[in-house]
Amino acid sequence: QGLHSLMVAAGKLYFGTATETNNFNDAAYQAISTNKNEFGMFTPENSQKWEVTEPTQGQFVFTQADQVAQKAASNGQLLRCHTLTWHSQLPSFVSSGTWTPETLSAVLEAHIKSVMTHYAGQCYAWDVVNEALNDDGTFRESVFFTTMGPDYIPISFRAAASADPSAKLYYNDFNLETTSSKADGAVKIVQLLKDAGAKIDGVGFQAHLTVGQTPSREELAATLSRFAALGVEVAYTELDLAHASLPASDADREQQARDYVAVVGSCLDVAACVGVTVWQFTDRYSWVPNTFPGKGDACLYTSEYHKKPAYEAVLELL
Ligand code: XIL
Repeated sequence: QGLHSLMVAAGKLYFGTATETNNFNDAAYQAISTNKNEFGMFTPENSQKWEVTEPTQGQFVFTQADQVAQKAASNGQLLRCHTLTWHSQLPSFVSSGTWTPETLSAVLEAHIKSVMTHYAGQCYAWDVVNEALNDDGTFRESVFFTTMGPDYIPISFRAAASADPSAKLYYNDFNLETTSSKADGAVKIVQLLKDAGAKIDGVGFQAHLTVGQTPSREELAATLSRFAALGVEVAYTELDLAHASLPASDADREQQARDYVAVVGSCLDVAACVGVTVWQFTDRYSWVPNTFPGKGDACLYTSEYHKKPAYEAVLELL
């Protein structure tokens, strides 16, 4: 038994991991990531982002993400697709373009249509809009918001619904777990979409969290339940739990284990929570140290593929 098989036995759809083609030639990594007891779902970590899929306007590149999708399909693993409308990892033709609401919405709709049509039928879910909010619940000043206002959100979800009616359509963001004003903003996004008559199926909680600063299982479940009450499903989409400073002590690793258990446990506690995805399962490939210097050791496995106390605790929980 492993994380995924036990998660399924608990009534959930998957326990998954982010992965990428640069991990494909690492045999030790592949032995774990393609073991379906362990992981039943992949999310491409970078290769479906706009800068990769449409680096030049109208010219689409799916080479890398296709390899991730094929690996998942050949293993019978689900795919969560990530992401369409996001302010980061944009090609310069978008981020530095001169736009009107009309010209930018046409480019956005064309992007969503082309990428989602290419993967139609292959994605359990798409993160349609990613990180639209500031921590205080107001809209982030992205090129999309400054040009189009909040309309870019229903425009994105409408384009997504018509490009692949079989994919679950998600709003995805970080700090929803820890910051109630930001969760309030995400509730408003769900309501805005419903009021506009646009389809939204789920809210993704990235859960990039810090050891010792993670809400309790009960608090996390209460936050998930706010969204379940709106009639959408929820998932942890990018879970990792970084130590605030390194090296981690044994006590820090025990706290990390308790925090992982709180997060996974809160998904078990809420029927609308469909699964948990970790944002890489080994420190060898974690994004954390590169992006947050001084933080790290955030994954379930060490860089040398040893299982941490957090891994054992999650397995025990399940
Ligand atoms: C990160 C990747 O892990 C890195 O490799 C990349 O350099 C930057 O993006 N929120 C998201 C993810 O939605 O796409 C980000 O992934 C992490 C934060």
